[in-house]
Amino acid sequence: MNRILRHIELVRDKVPNWEAYPFAIPAVAKLDRLEFDPRVTFFVGDNGSGKSTLVEAIAIKAGFNPEGGTKNFQTRLRPSESSLHEYLRLARGARREHGGFFLRAETMFNVSTEAEAYGAYGWKDLHEKSHGEAFLWVAIHRFRDRGLFILDEPEAALSPQRQLALMGRMRQLIRAGSQFIVSTHSPILMAYPGARIYLLDRGGIERVSYTDTEHYAVTKTFLQDPERMLQRVFADVDAAESE
Ligand SMILES: Nc1ncnc2c1ncn2[C@@H]1O[C@H](COP(=O)(O)OP(=O)(O)O)[C@@H](O)[C@H]1O
Ligand SMILES: [Mg+2]
Repeated sequence: MNRILRHIELVRDKVPNWEAYPFAIPAVAKLDRLEFDPRVTFFVGDNGSGKSTLVEAIAIKAGFNPEGGTKNFQTRLRPSESSLHEYLRLARGARREHGGFFLRAETMFNVSTEAEAYGAYGWKDLHEKSHGEAFLWVAIHRFRDRGLFILDEPEAALSPQRQLALMGRMRQLIRAGSQFIVSTHSPILMAYPGARIYLLDRGGIERVSYTDTEHYAVTKTFLQDPERMLQRVFADVDAAESE
């Protein structure tokens, strides 16, 4: 199947310093070649495992502004990107994207500010919506067919119901030739059928199945018996306190 992005590769012999950020992060230190799914690739892993660093480097390498948004936005409100993109080789597929969007969860507000400043039609009242509403509005009205969408924890502002709405929108866009690369903690989003899931942890990056993710297992166990799981957590805390 045709892809927009095929894979990235870390050009290891160019790396200047394996001891420092971002190369010291295990997921980067062990990075070799990473294949993308033609439809959806997820990055999951604990806080601090390197998801944002990796997703951002892929986005920059694919031509997005580090601050996020469409490729036309040129905000430099808070330049903070790592140098990782300079050491990545990106292989593109036969499918050329018609635009796209890079969502940085932390900078969604900047993106709306920038869009307002541009006076882009339809963006002007984004600040009157909640972050979740604004993002879903953008996904529905501004995400176009055959686009490249790189999203860093898009669920952050979305209720479970709206996460499902986002997945419905993803399906429409994917059927129309779009490709998604998404970091997430959401056991809902990562259930997208057929998605490729990469787990980032201390051992590096490995491909996992949905039901093997901690997100799936913990959520499932929790929902089956919330009280029991919390009793265990509280018992651990109490034991630690009385030590
Ligand atoms: N600009 C930076 N300089 C130094 N260390 C950083 C910087 N940004 C992130 N880190 C560190 O790199 C690690 C990975 O961060 P990040 O990619 O944001 O993880 P995630 O998105 O998975 O939570 C963390 O330990 C974080 O503290
Ligand atoms: Mg992050």
